[in-house]
Amino acid sequence: MKERAALRDRFRGKVAIVTGGSSGIGLATVRELCREGASVALTGIEPDLGAAAERDFRREGFDVLFLCGDMADESFCASVVNDTLAKWNRVDFLVNNAFSFVAKGADAARADWERTFQVGPIAYATMAANVAGPMKKAGGGAIVNVSSISARIAQPNRWTYNAAKGAVANLTRCMALDLAPSGIRVNSVSPGWIWTREVEKAAGGDRERWEPVWGEYHMLRRLGETVEVAAAILFLLSSDAAFITGADLPVDGGYQGLGSEGLGSTSQFAGSH
Ligand SMILES: NC(=O)c1ccc[n+]([C@@H]2O[C@H](COP(=O)([O-])OP(=O)(O)OC[C@H]3O[C@@H](n4cnc5c(N)ncnc54)[C@H](O)[C@@H]3O)[C@@H](O)[C@H]2O)c1
Repeated sequence: MKERAALRDRFRGKVAIVTGGSSGIGLATVRELCREGASVALTGIEPDLGAAAERDFRREGFDVLFLCGDMADESFCASVVNDTLAKWNRVDFLVNNAFSFVAKGADAARADWERTFQVGPIAYATMAANVAGPMKKAGGGAIVNVSSISARIAQPNRWTYNAAKGAVANLTRCMALDLAPSGIRVNSVSPGWIWTREVEKAAGGDRERWEPVWGEYHMLRRLGETVEVAAAILFLLSSDAAFITGADLPVDGGYQGLGSEGLGSTSQFAGSH
């Protein structure tokens, strides 16, 4: 993102939970929420990474709490909400972001399926159920579930990941319906390819080589940045999105709008109008 939007102050006095907030999209979301005044509990499964993020944020003067554990563990999900309430006595926002990257096809073992769903949609549901009461007490709130372009399309050898993201898509609508009477809005974002450590790993650290190749999957001919997804998440959490619930916001540089002709370089009609 070439220009950062002017800093706003939309979340002063508010408290957020961001799962998987110690890296990538989650980390960028924590930073943007803090920059706009929120206090944030961030979870992660890697103790060193989370402790370093917490230290860095506090050094910047941000009010954060790192909670280390596995989102597949129901008791950890409960303790995240309890620890957040113990520290700040309220919770206004939840970003369900941590996910399992187990991406397997017909070779997936039952354990792979269970892990993918436990860390993904089941934990998303548990967290939403746990925050619903406190959010209602705080006068309402907002939840954003991080989905993916993979929720809607076929990709090779990705039965587990894509099915789990597909579950997130409909879970978001069901949550939105049931939590609306409590003043809680629920939406999702669907990122395209974003430069995070998984993508960095796949590129062997060579962004210059792979950006033009994978960029072709997107109308904007590049990959996204974590802060660009964070900006969309903050929009959906904020009162700017007060009449939006049960919706999915693609943050994919036009990925989902492309058809089989791709960017059109080999199309018969390329160049004619
Ligand atoms: N990177 C992309 O291109 C992309 C595209 C579409 C969707 N997404 C989605 O965005 C989200 C974040 O992805 P990312 O690329 O930023 O990931 P990342 O690997 O950079 O960060 C993942 C975070 O989740 C935490 N985490 C992982 N497993 C956990 C578990 N079992 N319990 C608790 N915490 C756990 C990690 O500690 C870390 O904080 C995921 O839901 C992913 O599916 C990413």
